[in-house]
Amino acid sequence: MNKCDLEKQYNAYKASGTILDMSRGKPATEQLDNLSPLLTEIKRNSECYSENGMDCRNYGGLDGIPEAKSIFANILGVSSENVVVCGNSSLNIMYDTISNGYAFGLNGCEPWSRQGMVKFLCPVPGYDRHFAITSLFGFESVNIPVLKDGPDMELVRKYAENDPSVKGIWCVPKYSNPTGVTFSDKVVKEFAALKPAAKDFIVMWDNAYAVHDFNDTPDKLLSVLKEAQERGTQDLFYIYTSTSKITWSGAGISCVAMSLANKERYLKIMGIKTIGYDKLAMLRHARMLNEHLPEIMRGHGDIIRAKFELCYKYFAKLEREIEGFDFSRPNGGYFINVNVPAGKAKRVVSLAAQAGLKITPAGATFPDGIDPEDRNIRIAPTYPSLRELEDALRLFSICVLLA
Ligand SMILES: Cc1ncc(COP(=O)(O)O)c(C=O)c1O
Repeated sequence: MNKCDLEKQYNAYKASGTILDMSRGKPATEQLDNLSPLLTEIKRNSECYSENGMDCRNYGGLDGIPEAKSIFANILGVSSENVVVCGNSSLNIMYDTISNGYAFGLNGCEPWSRQGMVKFLCPVPGYDRHFAITSLFGFESVNIPVLKDGPDMELVRKYAENDPSVKGIWCVPKYSNPTGVTFSDKVVKEFAALKPAAKDFIVMWDNAYAVHDFNDTPDKLLSVLKEAQERGTQDLFYIYTSTSKITWSGAGISCVAMSLANKERYLKIMGIKTIGYDKLAMLRHARMLNEHLPEIMRGHGDIIRAKFELCYKYFAKLEREIEGFDFSRPNGGYFINVNVPAGKAKRVVSLAAQAGLKITPAGATFPDGIDPEDRNIRIAPTYPSLRELEDALRLFSICVLLA
């Protein structure tokens, strides 16, 4: 298509006033509707008791009810005793972990707030909300490139093992947001073998997409806590997940898993902040997921796979036509990672916005919104319907070609 035709099509979209949104990784309404049994999982007073007899309507059970701990333990490949079940957002617990280090210090060290400049390793491209937390506390972000099998571990070791002002690293170890990369066994073992220079170094292991496979060849991830326990490094790891992309993002449950020593310290602070999280939500989720987790994830997978495949059709065409355009084809998760030719990502996103298509801002996948090459765009195709998505992809393609 020549430039004149492209401009005509682009202007037609602009004039139509269509609004399309591919900006955030939200489940589609259809996925949420498929889980309606969760609404009625508990109907009577007599059904409000957990398996250890706790009345879930009342106070008590700071670290969660046993059946919810066990669901998360299975998802994460850890023991139930390592798990603390929390409210609907794992991001909230990640914030608390960083906030605890900042205000009170970790492992008997001075609070980070009193240690001068604190640095945090940020694998890029990565999840904007992770970077936003450590940026909010004023930490300096250090970009670590994400390779095919996880972060560049040589660089991670160089910083973590030599610079005591480096206090931690963000990780999404399976179907990473946005690259779709799953950490190889080698990378997980290298994490478990890390010998950080700082005594208060932590690994923020956000396994948000642990069971979010959508084909017959899912990625496999080793349990980092088990690997670490074998090497005695278990206190480095804080492991998170939630049901946000399993059941309902706004009304689910989440957890953090950690060593028993860390858990004891963590609960001391958490117990001052709250008497405990919503145990009826835990009970409803545990009852439903205990029986139906694989089937629920297969259902989500079928819906999401169709959307990803539609994206691949359009992106493969762009890849053939444009040098410097490439994209990921993950086996699960919520995002497709797109690279446009250097210097063009902002232009693509701006053209799209002017014509009514909202995409995650260019640069959002890097700390402080700065993509040094201005190449990376995160595509979140899960929320729109297939028809809306096709429209969005047509317009996106026009914007890439115009840029
Ligand atoms: C990697 C990652 N972690 C955490 C979240 C948010 O999790 P939650 O809803 O449990 O706060 C998301 C949401 O997109 C995500 O992609």
